[in-house]
Amino acid sequence: MNCSVAVIPGDGIGPEVIGQAVEVLDALGDKFGHVFHYAELPAGGRAIDAAGTPLPPETLEAVKQCHALLLGALGGPQWDGLPGHLRPERGLLDLRSGLGVFVNLRPAALLPQLAAACPLKDEVLAAGSADGKPGFDLLIVRELTGGIYFGDRGRSEDGASAFDTERYSRLEIERVLRAGYAAAAGRRKKLCVVDKANVLESSRLWREAAAEIAKEHPDIETSFLYVDNCAMQLIRAPGQFDVIVTSNMFGDILSDEASVLTGSIGMLPSASLAGIPTGAGKRRGAGGSAGAEPVMGIYEPIHGSAPDLTGTDRANPLAAILSAAMMLRYSFDLEPEAAALEAAVRAALDAGFRTPDIAGHSGGPEQIVGTGEMGAAVLKALETGE
Ligand code: IPM
Ligand code: MG
Repeated sequence: MNCSVAVIPGDGIGPEVIGQAVEVLDALGDKFGHVFHYAELPAGGRAIDAAGTPLPPETLEAVKQCHALLLGALGGPQWDGLPGHLRPERGLLDLRSGLGVFVNLRPAALLPQLAAACPLKDEVLAAGSADGKPGFDLLIVRELTGGIYFGDRGRSEDGASAFDTERYSRLEIERVLRAGYAAAAGRRKKLCVVDKANVLESSRLWREAAAEIAKEHPDIETSFLYVDNCAMQLIRAPGQFDVIVTSNMFGDILSDEASVLTGSIGMLPSASLAGIPTGAGKRRGAGGSAGAEPVMGIYEPIHGSAPDLTGTDRANPLAAILSAAMMLRYSFDLEPEAAALEAAVRAALDAGFRTPDIAGHSGGPEQIVGTGEMGAAVLKALETGE
């Protein structure tokens, strides 16, 4: 398969971790007979410095010519003083809306290799979990192109008051809910809608829409939680959750919380899609060959640009590498390849390789490695793996 991939390495540790993801992708391509064509493009702080804007129009146009976008991280303290519309983060928001990627999948699971890195006690991890054993495996489905991130905002003339607006249309809510149900159907068939319907009118619309769509999915157990309660439940009994569907801002906050439970934010990938994920392999024709057109998606680690780690060879590239695996699965429908890459990451961890953020928890011998060495460990596991 020929895959054209836009690459925005971005700021801070972005280029370091994306560099590893690209090397691993190339090795995977050699192994499975795919060719990845990359178009490296500027956005974020780098584009502000070079072109005075966080998302040059040419970058967005070039991304649209590709099948998928692999993104590092955007932002850094040197750009913090800029007005909102010129900040690096604006580039990210414009990419998301410009590509129409309204559904953001943020999986968070406790890997056995990193179980001891989770700050929760075993009894908390066992409470409500699917098999009664300590652990969790949840997916946050975050609405990504609406809500308060994109609503009207402003200041009064004297600057003494400011406002941001949470606005959702029924259509925006329904399409992300449908994506959540599609994801839940391929998992443990539980879906929790998280909102603040005791206060917010927009949340009440979420509940109305969800109650309707739930009727179409009698095989999936639908529940509702207020976001404050959900924040508490995540650290009280994370094992109770399967799929969480929520708004843009609530999803942003809850996914950072969930990431801490996995041991390190340096482990968590994400996929932002312009369509409902049909699930791994489901788009394939009967002959097993990839049948359908690639689906546009942005694949990025959920961590930021980590300016303090930049250039120190301490950044964990696994979130970027796992994001590349999500790209194989969702944009290119290459499920065996995605699974092989994820297995290679687990194998590197099994072999004891640890970047500093995940070190000291295995209870066995560990090898503390840098960004490049961790990438090399995954590469080796990929080459020697099944
Ligand atoms: C994320 C980030 C972004 C967001 C920032 C950088 C704009 O926190 O992807 O979670 O809030 O969406
Ligand atoms: Mg965030």
